[in-house]
Amino acid sequence: MRPGILKTQTKYQNTISDTHTFAPQNFINTQVHNMQALSGKVAIITGGASGIGRATAARFLEEGAAVAIWDLNEAAMQALGESWSEYGDRLRFYKVNTSSLDAVTEAAAAVHADLGGIHILVNNAGITRDASLKKMTSEQWDQVISVNLTGVFNCTKAVQPYMEAQNWGRIISASSVVGLYGNFGQTNYAATKAGVIAMTKVWARELGRKGITANAIAPGYIETDMMRTVPENVLAGMREKTPLQRLGKPEEIAAAYAFLASDDAAYINGATLSVDGGMTI
Ligand SMILES: NC(=O)c1ccc[n+]([C@@H]2O[C@H](COP(=O)([O-])OP(=O)(O)OC[C@H]3O[C@@H](n4cnc5c(N)ncnc54)[C@H](O)[C@@H]3O)[C@@H](O)[C@H]2O)c1
Repeated sequence: MRPGILKTQTKYQNTISDTHTFAPQNFINTQVHNMQALSGKVAIITGGASGIGRATAARFLEEGAAVAIWDLNEAAMQALGESWSEYGDRLRFYKVNTSSLDAVTEAAAAVHADLGGIHILVNNAGITRDASLKKMTSEQWDQVISVNLTGVFNCTKAVQPYMEAQNWGRIISASSVVGLYGNFGQTNYAATKAGVIAMTKVWARELGRKGITANAIAPGYIETDMMRTVPENVLAGMREKTPLQRLGKPEEIAAAYAFLASDDAAYINGATLSVDGGMTI
């Protein structure tokens, strides 16, 4: 077993090849097409062991993709592996710290060897270390930068050669409404999420000619562990500010990732898609 790799198995064989035969007049074919929008694709989902990443892994598996989860949380990956055993060789887990370029370079090589390609990268891993500017320490600043910004750079750099070699790729990264509008107590987090939008535009320009698109998603406030540290009165204020009057669900972000990864999004490049219940209009 390679160091840092939790579980590796045999090569993934692409299976359904005829799902792109789309007959609009045939309802059943339409359903098959939609359900298998990611068939034959290999997707890496960072931070895939919980929250939005876990919901995205579930959605991508439903859509027919092979999924490699990169996460630090070994216990959560172990539990997922046990409860999602029906996916067999289509689901792999790699214990990877995305802040390390060496670790992600090694993990990308392992995914390519194990699953036979790398088509989609979802840069989802992220952390918060909130404090007002006055109280924020250099350590809090560095921690968030190293995961949310350097981690996204590292993972994209590691997969880019594989995508370029096959002249096809999708890079989709987690920004946030905070990256668009700022937020009290989040100097570090806002800087990274705005940075993700800027990097996405650079990659859209640099990699488009190689058949690779780069897009970002800016979620509003989504019910995950990340939100557990937010006081209830602040959550109530967020609901109030959202026209839909509720927080979002991880599955609603996963659906947007699945769309941007699919062939239906082939001409979307360099965009940041807000998925926030209308909070930012
Ligand atoms: N929850 C929200 O309201 C919200 C809103 C906007 C944007 N986002 C963004 O969406 C993404 C997912 O958020 P979430 O709420 O699901 O978070 P979460 O805390 O539930 O999950 C994050 C996952 O990332 C993993 N992770 C953290 N650091 C890592 C590292 N260095 N290497 C590998 N894995 C690492 C964690 O172990 C965890 O499994 C984040 O980038 C976050 O900033 C979340």
